Amino acid sequence: MSKLKNKVTVITGGNSGIGFGIAEAFKNEGAVGAIAGRNETTLNSAVETLGGNFIGVKGDVTNLDDLENLYRTTADKFGKIDALVVNAGGVVDGIPLMTITDVTEEGYDRYMDLNLKSAYFTVKKSLPYLNDGASIILIASNAAHRAAPGATIYAAAKAAVISLGRGLSLDLLSRRIRVNTISPGSIDTPVFGKMVPQDLVDQVKQIWIDLTPLGRQGTPAEIGKTAVFLASDDSTFIVGADILADGGMANAFLVK
Ligand SMILES: NC(=O)c1ccc[n+]([C@@H]2O[C@H](COP(=O)([O-])OP(=O)(O)OC[C@H]3O[C@@H](n4cnc5c(N)ncnc54)[C@H](OP(=O)(O)O)[C@@H]3O)[C@@H](O)[C@H]2O)c1
Repeated sequence: MSKLKNKVTVITGGNSGIGFGIAEAFKNEGAVGAIAGRNETTLNSAVETLGGNFIGVKGDVTNLDDLENLYRTTADKFGKIDALVVNAGGVVDGIPLMTITDVTEEGYDRYMDLNLKSAYFTVKKSLPYLNDGASIILIASNAAHRAAPGATIYAAAKAAVISLGRGLSLDLLSRRIRVNTISPGSIDTPVFGKMVPQDLVDQVKQIWIDLTPLGRQGTPAEIGKTAVFLASDDSTFIVGADILADGGMANAFLVK
């Protein structure tokens, strides 16, 4: 298995959930590179599991200096980058998803900063460090393809991320850099423990399982395989696309 042999990769949020699943899938295909996150403990344990070909770079993706440090550190160690996964995002610390009556201006800004602005600048700051012909993969969400109570701002940010995928592809055409998005459905990651108290996690997961035609959550490893496809030469004619990896949820009308 060497679809990404010696390819230099960067995965933001590679210390948890989907990002870690992508990092493992990349490693299994021969890639090297960096994972980034804020939590030093999970960063260290993820790097230990991935082995010697990956480094962890601590930083906040909403901070442009941290992004610069991520790319400089990666390029110093491995050279220019072949595949970038813009994955960090999701629930903002201390601010749960809520409906418009409860959303504050600060809550709105923090969700947009984490899920949209950081995605844009994670790409922009990477440009001097990317090889021509590189692949950029943005992690959106199937929330962008449907409505869910309380998820309006998150969904709008992720819909905009899909739009970035289309537009940035054209911006970067002259360098043959392909930009695509993946829209995962409900994937079994630690994010659920960040959304609701621990004793409600199984109940919330079950709600999403019931909404998914395949009758289960997806795994980070499944999103990892989709990311390998987009990062590799198997997808050289795919530009500005969005791949729904959601067990059929967004396109289904389930009658139980
Ligand atoms: N799980 C799902 O069902 C699902 C579905 C659709 C889309 N997604 C998307 O998939 C991505 C990963 O989510 P997940 O489910 O794997 O969640 P997760 O396990 O909570 O992981 C989130 C990752 O993002 C990093 N992160 C968050 N804020 C950050 C910041 N300001 N700076 C740097 N890193 C930051 C976290 O690192 P630290 O802990 O170090 O901050 C962590 O590694 C997100 O973009 C999410 O919106 C998830």
